[in-house]
Parts: sequence; structure tokens; C-alpha cells
Amino acid sequence: MYLEVENIKKSYGEGGSYVQVLRGISTQLREGQMCVILGPSGSGKSTLLNAIGGLDTVDGGSIRVDGKEITGLKPDALSDYRRDSIGFVFQFYHLIPNLTVRENIEVCQYLSPVPLSLAELLETLGLSSHQNKFPAQLSGGQQQRCALARALVKNPRLLLCDEPTGALDSKTAKEILVLLETINQKYKTTMLIVTHNDAIQHMVHKVIQIRDGEIHREYENEHRIPAADLEW
Ligand SMILES: Nc1ncnc2c1ncn2[C@@H]1O[C@H](COP(=O)(O)OP(=O)(O)OP(=O)(O)O)[C@@H](O)[C@H]1O
Ligand SMILES: [Mg+2]
Repeated sequence: MYLEVENIKKSYGEGGSYVQVLRGISTQLREGQMCVILGPSGSGKSTLLNAIGGLDTVDGGSIRVDGKEITGLKPDALSDYRRDSIGFVFQFYHLIPNLTVRENIEVCQYLSPVPLSLAELLETLGLSSHQNKFPAQLSGGQQQRCALARALVKNPRLLLCDEPTGALDSKTAKEILVLLETINQKYKTTMLIVTHNDAIQHMVHKVIQIRDGEIHREYENEHRIPAADLEW
């Protein structure tokens, strides 16, 4: 198994404001699997993704990526893990405001010994003509595509996407999904995609439904629908 999540628990606050956000999540992904996480707003999807990406600590449980335990790593080791293994597309983009589109992506390209071609990514994501703009000069969808390019350019082994198509029209969303599928097939990238878009569940290998910080249901698709054929 490439990703092994075992009984993850996470809470916030104390006393009256105490809330248990993850109540013992366990799941596994094989290398090269694409997986979606579905669930209502506030069910813990981003919290789970942040924990797997080493961006947040958990109260208990274990997360192993490629056989390596992530929970309990010291900050330096954790940042090595993020740099070497993870591509992260944030729900709210988090682009660096005083760097251009191109520079935002380049920063991550330098981190990888095996980066993808920046020019190709810009082209595929329709960003070539925007590459010298700053994030504030972009639409929401363009910022989202820039965030995706930044995560992909490293050619990470594990890609974590929080609502990668949330701000996109359906045509652009489908193009992005086709790109994710192509990258998955070409590089065997393991992918975890949080989404509110129900159509995406048909193109992935595995579906996890979360409710109130627990796995409500999970299953593998016997037959996948290629991203290009999705309908919504
Ligand atoms: N830093 C924090 N402090 C306190 N509570 C938090 C914090 N971060 C998240 N929460 C709470 O944890 C719960 C889960 O949040 P999370 O962001 O994981 O939800 P989500 O499933 O990603 O929702 P959405 O679909 O709206 O993005 C929510 O009730 C939220 O209010
Ligand atoms: Mg979220």
C-alpha cells in the first residue's frame, strides 16, 4: 500500500468549544490510485487532507506514506516529506502574491529532481498568456489553474487536491480532470481529490464518503468513466 491511514483522530478547541473533527479515519490507497473524498461541508475533508500532507498534526492514529510514518515527525523531517513527496492544491489557492504566475510555479519546479516542463504545463492549463501576471490580476479559475500547475510541476508521488475544480466552469473543469487523469496514467501518481462535484467520483479508482469525521462509505469503481466522457 502506498498510503495507509489508521484510526486518525483530530479535535479542535477546549471545553465548550471542543469539537472532534476526525473520529477515527482508516483507509488505504495503492500506488497509482486516484481517489475522491466526498462529504458535506464541515465533515473534515480538508482536515484529513492537511494531516496526510503533513500540514497539520493529529491527536492520534498513524499515517504511513510509502512505508514511512508521517505522524510525529519533527518539523524539519516533515518539511522534507512535503518537499520530496507531496503536491498540494489548496482549497483557497495560497499563491504567493508578489510572484508572477510563472514564478509561483518555478519556485516549486526548483524543488524537484524530476520536474515537468513548465512551458508545457502553462500551455495545457491555458496559462501561457497569463504567465507574467500577479495572482491579484487573475480570475478565480486562473488562480486555481496556477495552483494546480504549481502542485504538478514537481511531479510529486502523492498529489493532494482540495477542490481542484471548485472555481472552474464545467468545460475548464473537465480539461483539468483530463490532465489529472493523464498525469496519473503517465507517472502513476497517487491522487487524493476532495470535491463537491459528484461527477468526479466516476473517473477515479476509489471513492471515500465522509460524514461527521467518519468514513460513511468507501468503495472501488469496477468500471471507471474516462474524464473526457464525464457528464454533469
Ligand atoms: N483551526 C480550526 N479551529 C477550530 N475548528 C476548526 C479549525 N479548522 C477546521 N475546524 C472545524 O473542523 C470541521 C471540519 O473542517 P474542514 O475544513 O475539514 O471541513 P471540510 O469538510 O473541508 O468542509 P468544506 O467542504 O466546507 O471545505 C469544521 O466544523 C470546522 O469548523
Ligand atoms: Mg474543505
